[in-house]
Amino acid sequence: MQTLPSLTIGQHTVPYPIVQGGMGIRVSGAGLAAAVANAGGIGVVSAVGLGMHSPYFDIEEKNPKTRQTQFFRANRMALIDELRQARALSPRGILGVNIMVAARDYDFLVRTAVDQGVNLIFAGAGLPLDLPELTAHRPEVALVPIISSVRAAQVICKKWQRQYHRLPDAFVVENPRAAGGHLGAKAEDLGDPTIAPETVIPALVSYLAENFETPIPVIAAGGIGDRATLLHALSLGASGVQIGTRFIPTEECDADRRYKEFHLRADPADIVLVPSPVGLPGRALRNAFTDRISAGEASGTKDQCFANCLQVCKFRDRRETYCILRALDRACRGDVENGLVFAGSGVGGSSCIQPVAEVMAELVGGEWVGG
Ligand SMILES: Cc1cc2nc3c(=O)[nH]c(=O)nc-3n(C[C@H](O)[C@H](O)[C@H](O)COP(=O)(O)O)c2cc1C
Repeated sequence: MQTLPSLTIGQHTVPYPIVQGGMGIRVSGAGLAAAVANAGGIGVVSAVGLGMHSPYFDIEEKNPKTRQTQFFRANRMALIDELRQARALSPRGILGVNIMVAARDYDFLVRTAVDQGVNLIFAGAGLPLDLPELTAHRPEVALVPIISSVRAAQVICKKWQRQYHRLPDAFVVENPRAAGGHLGAKAEDLGDPTIAPETVIPALVSYLAENFETPIPVIAAGGIGDRATLLHALSLGASGVQIGTRFIPTEECDADRRYKEFHLRADPADIVLVPSPVGLPGRALRNAFTDRISAGEASGTKDQCFANCLQVCKFRDRRETYCILRALDRACRGDVENGLVFAGSGVGGSSCIQPVAEVMAELVGGEWVGG
């Protein structure tokens, strides 16, 4: 059996070329991230919306201004708690944070994560053009933009080099045809062969090798959940893979058990694309909620905008679609019919809820004996 290479991103090396994708809200918290890190991969806490159900936030607060101020402060405090917990569970593991550029508290959360001693920042849902500035005081923190095209990588490399004399430590390339969560392409463009990983990954690997002396690893994401899909990604030139969906039906995943079981019972026929308030489609499991959204019903039109959490939001501005915070939060706390359950097209890869170490052993092709 082929031995997998280790993965080095910046100053951080893990035994296996596996990054666990950040999954919000609270699908990948301290529990999942630490378990993946302990099993020899990179564990990633998703920073999105952590404050919502935290001791720092009064969810009943009626004054929108107070609620918003409280929410951003609570997100920060809850992220600190989550990172401390992850570090306590995995004292020597390599841990990252996933932060959405599109979030209004992006800067605040990046600074918080860096001050907490996180090893890597993964930044997607927008181009993280000023990330090196936000993290300049901690150059040991590896910076990893999440992109879907070579063009986006070129823009980031040029800007970072010109303005900050720094390059990304790796790129995650998300395949919009397969990945769970928000997609970096419009639904009508998903058939375009130029966005396929078979095109984008080799082109990005060549661009980086031809233009920069320092090796910049490329991590493939989307639809990878077993050894065959992992090896296929490596054969395209990727140095590692990012996996989300396969880590959901695990003991350590931080979502409610009903969320994990909903994933476990699903198969690829249950996948749908739904519009989202950020304007791009999301890949999710079909349920009563997605049926309502696909029928054009805005969910909770009587609701106010919860916390003005995004830079661009159709729900806040025009009452179109739904409040994504409420939808993701409802699902991860167990209301899997009335919430949004993101999933990649490879859903259904597990036959039971497994410990993370077992999933990792399957992926790396051996029994995990480390600790
Ligand atoms: C439930 C769920 C939530 C996600 N949340 C986020 C997120 O908050 N930020 C982000 O950049 N990506 C998010 N993603 C994408 C994952 O990080 C990862 O790139 C993707 O799941 C890879 O595809 P796969 O699910 O087919 O493995 C999410 C994916 C899922 C399934």
